Amino acid sequence: MRATARAQPNIALIKYWGKRDTNRNLPAVGSISMTLSELHTEMCVELDVSLDEDVLVVNGVENPGLRPRVQSCLDHVLGAGRSRARITSTSNFPVAAGLASSASAFAALVVAAAAAAGQSRTTAELAALAGQASGSAARSLYGGFVELRNRDDDIDVRSLRPGSEWPLSVVIAITTADAKPVGSGAAMEISRRTSPFYARWIDQQETDLADARNAIAARNFAQLAAVAEHNCLKMHSVMWASRPPIVYWNSVTLSCMRAVRELQAAGVGVFFTIDAGPQVKAVCLPDNELRVRDELASVAGVAEVMTSGLGDGAALVGAACPG
Ligand code: DP6
Repeated sequence: MRATARAQPNIALIKYWGKRDTNRNLPAVGSISMTLSELHTEMCVELDVSLDEDVLVVNGVENPGLRPRVQSCLDHVLGAGRSRARITSTSNFPVAAGLASSASAFAALVVAAAAAAGQSRTTAELAALAGQASGSAARSLYGGFVELRNRDDDIDVRSLRPGSEWPLSVVIAITTADAKPVGSGAAMEISRRTSPFYARWIDQQETDLADARNAIAARNFAQLAAVAEHNCLKMHSVMWASRPPIVYWNSVTLSCMRAVRELQAAGVGVFFTIDAGPQVKAVCLPDNELRVRDELASVAGVAEVMTSGLGDGAALVGAACPG
């Protein structure tokens, strides 16, 4: 009745922003991401009939604030009549700061919960369940380059190519470890209702997806860099034009973007992407990783720099609980 799973966050190259069904948390657009190797969340789920209520401990501290989302995810995986659970989560990176902590958390949670209950579910089923909890989490069930497509009233997630076939590096500049002001789910709804650019964003997504898919198939770094930066800046333009405006960046975010531009001007193969937070993720060819890392670490205000390669999808790691 106990299982532990580990999942890695993913970095979106072509972003999910907007929902077509808020009840089932279905995305309005498809997306393409890369699953990381070095950052991870471990989730232990212990089903316990003697518990009166679920207990959630995140990085050693009880967290009643995050509990409702976790409970509803467990209800979906195990059914509403399920036993109560003790859920223990540990991550080796800052949570809720735009590093996709919900992606790795919910991907690990569905895998651990299904195993704790003795269910045998397919990866596609687990991805759909994770996506119901957090759209981006569906992608962390798979490794390497991953595409999430919309299917009638569902999603379809698959690996486009394993990371070992195109081992890019990701350098993450942490510009602040503070939690973000607005969660991405709520912010997407503000954009859908108020941004004058939202409809164009939806219309153009298929073109960006096809461009990125082709770039990944051909391992064409320049092509991937161009479409990923374009898609990222377009998503943030949708947010900025929302009412109230949604601005996740800080001045250090902009300094990091400038540092990446300077590296590009010097001929270094690197591009930036930014999700719903102020951190800058610089994607580069492995040979350039040290240079990109040094450059971002020297930007005034950068608190920490992390590096990662591409990793695998969520998996069970055993029955012991972390921490
Ligand atoms: C900007 O997956 O966190 O990172 O489904 O509401 O939980 P919910 O949203 P979430 O949104 C991620 C948005 C993004 C882009 C992306 O990861 O594709």
